[in-house]
Amino acid sequence: MGIFKEGLYRGQHVFITGGSSGINLGLAFAFGELGAKVSINGRNAEKLADAVRQLEAKGIEAKGYAADVRDFAAVEKMLAQAAEQSGPLKVLVCGAAGNFPAPVVGLSSNGFNAVVGIDLLGTFHACRAGFEHLVKPGGVVLAISAPQAQVPYPLQAHVSAAKAGVDMLVKTLALEWGGVGVRVCSIWPGPIAETEGMSRLAPDEKSRASVEKQVPLQRFGTKAEVAQLALFLGSEAASYCTGAVYAADGGMALMGAGLFAALS
Ligand code: COA
Repeated sequence: MGIFKEGLYRGQHVFITGGSSGINLGLAFAFGELGAKVSINGRNAEKLADAVRQLEAKGIEAKGYAADVRDFAAVEKMLAQAAEQSGPLKVLVCGAAGNFPAPVVGLSSNGFNAVVGIDLLGTFHACRAGFEHLVKPGGVVLAISAPQAQVPYPLQAHVSAAKAGVDMLVKTLALEWGGVGVRVCSIWPGPIAETEGMSRLAPDEKSRASVEKQVPLQRFGTKAEVAQLALFLGSEAASYCTGAVYAADGGMALMGAGLFAALS
């Protein structure tokens, strides 16, 4: 893909939670096209099987593991199985996430818990269970976070709380795991076209045009643009990068809360 050397990830195992759609499936294609053996996780077995078929159709070695990342025992089991089948993990992408716009007064305890459970607890589970299977030294954890971790947007309290937690978890793990040569980074995708998250946050043409106008780069990003950041961070080109947040957001985070205030 793009500037990356053919075969950059040849034979290396990349595991992606929430990998059956959206940005994360884009990552699976990107790593796979550079030779990685790709394992993807999702909750819906049918959707997962379809994603595996799409990857295989491109000649990518892919396997699917159905599990809810909120269930630690299930996460432990799938990572152990995946490591046994495809080898130790070079890259673990913690991408499973949930999002819907809701004001705090329209959010039940269970609604808040669903997003924090998938995004934050799910990331912890994948990291906690994934650590023993990561290549050491040389393994990389990439958590898919979001600008909401730092910038508050209306209707996104649950997401902000979850992603802020994810970023702090990443920083703590970078401290704890640096000594064994495992790097841990956060990626902030901004407004990315053709994703379920974006279609929920900006569902119509008017709201999409409003987002575009306010992003410094004046357009939505693509899944490929997020994937390129992940390919870099997972590679030896990023060998001194750990414990930090890397944005592929067109400058969106610089705009503060105003960006989505118009949508609310
Ligand atoms: N507004 C307010 N509350 C909502 C909501 C909305 N739009 N959508 C879901 N909820 C609440 C539900 O009402 C429920 O709470 P309740 O039991 O008090 O009624 C709670 O969230 C859990 O809902 P459920 O449907 O059981 O969710 P789930 O555990 O299957 O979780 C979600 C999944 C809620 C995150 C779901 O929206 C999802 O899977 N989204 C797709 C993933 C996505 O958006 N990806 C892009 C990430 S950026």
